Amino acid sequence: MCGIVGYVGSKSAVDFLLEGLYRLEYRGYDSAGLAVQQDHQIAIRKKTGRVGQLADLCERQPVTGTFGIGHTRWATHGEPSDINSHPHVGGNGEVVLVHNGVIENYSILRNQLRELGYVFRTGTDTEVVAHLVAHHLFEEIKLGANPGEIKTCLRAVESALKRVKGTYGLAMLFRDVPGLLIAARLGSPLVVGIGRGEHYLSSDAGPLVGRTEEVVYLSDHEIAVITPHELQIIHRDAGTQTPSVRTLEQTTSDLDLGDFDHYMLKEIYEQPQTVENALRGRLDEDEASAKFGGLNMQPQELRRVDRIILTACGTSWHAALVGEYLIEEFARIPVEVEYASELRYRNPPLTDRTMIFAITQSGETADTLAALRECKRKGHPTLAICNVVGSTIAREADGGIYLHAGPEIGVASTKAFTSQVTVLTLLALFLGRMRNLSYPAGKRIIGHLRAMPEKLRQTLGCHAAVKDIAQKYYQAENFLYLGRLYNFPVALEGALKLKEISYIHAEGYPAAEMKHGPIALVDEDTPSVFVVPRSNIYPKVVSNMEEIKARRGPIIAIACEGDDKIADLADDVIYVPDVDEYLQPLVTAIPLQLLAYEIALLRGCNVDRPRNLAKSVTVE
Ligand code: AGP
Ligand code: GLU
Repeated sequence: MCGIVGYVGSKSAVDFLLEGLYRLEYRGYDSAGLAVQQDHQIAIRKKTGRVGQLADLCERQPVTGTFGIGHTRWATHGEPSDINSHPHVGGNGEVVLVHNGVIENYSILRNQLRELGYVFRTGTDTEVVAHLVAHHLFEEIKLGANPGEIKTCLRAVESALKRVKGTYGLAMLFRDVPGLLIAARLGSPLVVGIGRGEHYLSSDAGPLVGRTEEVVYLSDHEIAVITPHELQIIHRDAGTQTPSVRTLEQTTSDLDLGDFDHYMLKEIYEQPQTVENALRGRLDEDEASAKFGGLNMQPQELRRVDRIILTACGTSWHAALVGEYLIEEFARIPVEVEYASELRYRNPPLTDRTMIFAITQSGETADTLAALRECKRKGHPTLAICNVVGSTIAREADGGIYLHAGPEIGVASTKAFTSQVTVLTLLALFLGRMRNLSYPAGKRIIGHLRAMPEKLRQTLGCHAAVKDIAQKYYQAENFLYLGRLYNFPVALEGALKLKEISYIHAEGYPAAEMKHGPIALVDEDTPSVFVVPRSNIYPKVVSNMEEIKARRGPIIAIACEGDDKIADLADDVIYVPDVDEYLQPLVTAIPLQLLAYEIALLRGCNVDRPRNLAKSVTVE
């Protein structure tokens, strides 16, 4: 979902801007551009297409300067085109800016500015902000302000933003104040990197890795006034803020592909390690429970909780569904899983004993953030299960649990899913042990969890078998994914993985649901993937498989090692280690991730940057 970078210092700005935009590519975009300032000249290079094409343009038409801003656009207003790409120019070039987000009242503002004589050259909402800032700059100058002063520009920005409705991450250069970069945040994340005699700006920490370890995350309604040697942060209501400097956890190795062809494959193979990371320091052997550092809630507060809502989007919503089954089984607390986009507007009847968990890899998903804010507004305790330290949701929740999975760069979420499920298992153990879950039961769960990283390592051994199966089915146009209980969310997740990177239509269902309609879809060209490890309801799922087979539907089974019977029914079988039912999602998800990956490759799809998708959906 688009991206922003900025630099002010003594090095060539274009080098950081292009490298930063490459690192933001995974967020999804349709065009890219940059502006570089040298003295009172600001040069702009922008076009539709990939960052590599922008780099080629900068080769052909070099830009020099040590101050600059860059942007990858995910168009909301105005088609993807060279002229609609960012940066955009305000006035007669006094202001140049880039924007992430949506200006909701752009049409009214554009009419007002046109009446004042401003000429609009693009179809974007963003151009309105550029002219608005320029207009207020002129107003300040008419009142006698010095156009070459930082405070003149700051006042112009503050006046302009008071009139804007919508969401923005903004980065602005000013022709008459070389070396000044003003950033503003409302709903689209921005982080400042602190260097020695230089400062960086980015939509997320990726571009800052290897450049600095000290970062400052902007909050909503904050403006950052940045020069090579100064950083000032002003909040719209609270005034000047002391920058809250955090240490960047990521390293450049996190961003390297290593021996893998794609980030998605690398992240699939990282899962034994990332599950281990999620467990590290959180298994409490003495108490036969789990322990967390950041819940920020007292045991008696947690004991009062009589209902839990897990809210999320996409893959995180599937992990939440596993969490519902886990918490209800071990802690006997009623749990509901809500799509964040629904919860933010639905206004369900909650009491003061309802606790809200926001589950999110990025910590920036607009719908999940809005749902969290809606619940906080009503006084509910909110906790976040999140992967990105310092992300907006992590900061705004009352407390939370980090995944420690490292940056997830592939748009298709993989390691975040298994880490979220791991954390939810720990949470179910923790809540259960402060209620009716026995000491021996807690010890058993801890023992099973300790064994999981090795079980995931073993599961990755199915990759070769998955490759062969992908060869058989990659030309199918429809898939069904079927599972029960803990494996029903896995069926949903497997269908989503296939959809989002291979563009094949795939639906996940509870296996028994087939009889209520979906079985009408079954024919020789529609493979059904059954997630059917050993369980109490194994015979029931086998019956569902027989119903499909009777209608000549091809069957791919995800089954437990040693299950020889399943091969009589399924056309193809992928075996996974035999683990307790409640831990099966951690192993059964992996072959489905690999199946989607291999099929997408065979279909020539862009695995890490699938069409139309963004890694973090920061707009509604
Ligand atoms: C999953 O593969 C997708 N990338 C998408 O559904 C994602 O899970 C969803 O947008 C939620 O993102 P979050 O976990 O960062 O909030
Ligand atoms: N709404 C702006 C546009 O369509 C910004 C989109 C984005 O966030 O990239 O150009």
